[in-house]
Amino acid sequence: MMKKEVILSVNKLQASYGESTILWGTELAVAKGTVTTVMGRNGVGKTTLLKTIMGLVKVKEGEILLGDRNIANLPSHKIARAGIGYVPQGREILPKLSVHENLKLGLEASPDYKAKISEEEIYTLFPILKEFRKRLGGNLSGGQQQQLAIGRALISGPSLLLLDEPTEGIQPSIAIEIGNILRKLVEEKGISVLLVEQKIDFAKHVTDYFYFMDRGKMIKKGDAESFDFNELQDHIAV
Ligand SMILES: Nc1ncnc2c1ncn2[C@@H]1O[C@H](COP(=O)(O)OP(=O)(O)OP(=O)(O)O)[C@@H](O)[C@H]1O
Ligand SMILES: [Mg+2]
Repeated sequence: MMKKEVILSVNKLQASYGESTILWGTELAVAKGTVTTVMGRNGVGKTTLLKTIMGLVKVKEGEILLGDRNIANLPSHKIARAGIGYVPQGREILPKLSVHENLKLGLEASPDYKAKISEEEIYTLFPILKEFRKRLGGNLSGGQQQQLAIGRALISGPSLLLLDEPTEGIQPSIAIEIGNILRKLVEEKGISVLLVEQKIDFAKHVTDYFYFMDRGKMIKKGDAESFDFNELQDHIAV
């Protein structure tokens, strides 16, 4: 990896659900101001990795450093307030709340409950959300819900954004838009992104640095230009 400051560093991480161990000494580093992408088949532990970083799954062993602070096993609201925004797989938009109210839920992650990126600024990034400000979350399309979930994570001004398969089940045109916004956040706001993704074309378009995960471990890593996907054919979902 380039000699860049590391914002997140995951060292020898182990996590399990009951007796079943999912993360087996996972290692990962996210350099500041990059999009770092984790790819891998269904069920290898990608979501578990993000949940463990967020404090939603217990760390059994290992450390998770945000800057130089070990956040392993902090309660998840403290991790959010330390500057990590989380866009979960499946988006988790509250269907009976309006777009505006869903966005406001993101303020929970702000230490003083104030917006660090204003609602107006989020509407500039995602104009459709402004138009649908009063519409119920449950009445949005998948792509619009995804934009709302990203907006909700941004409002507290995170320095690191975790996104879990943001293109799952959404139209290609909206996926491209979301990719462009991620690049913009990195380049204009200095936000760092840890992306979990299965769609290679989308991932190549936005990624600086790749990791490939299999059965709870990283089996390959490299920067976007030199990463060879061919040798991973057997591991890539089709
Ligand atoms: N709450 C849970 N309790 C028990 N096992 C779980 C739980 N959540 C996930 N698992 C199991 O842990 C393993 C890893 O799941 P995880 O969701 O992290 O995979 P993933 O790589 O995100 O998959 P996908 O690409 O389908 O989203 C799977 O075998 C899954 O069945
Ligand atoms: Mg997953």
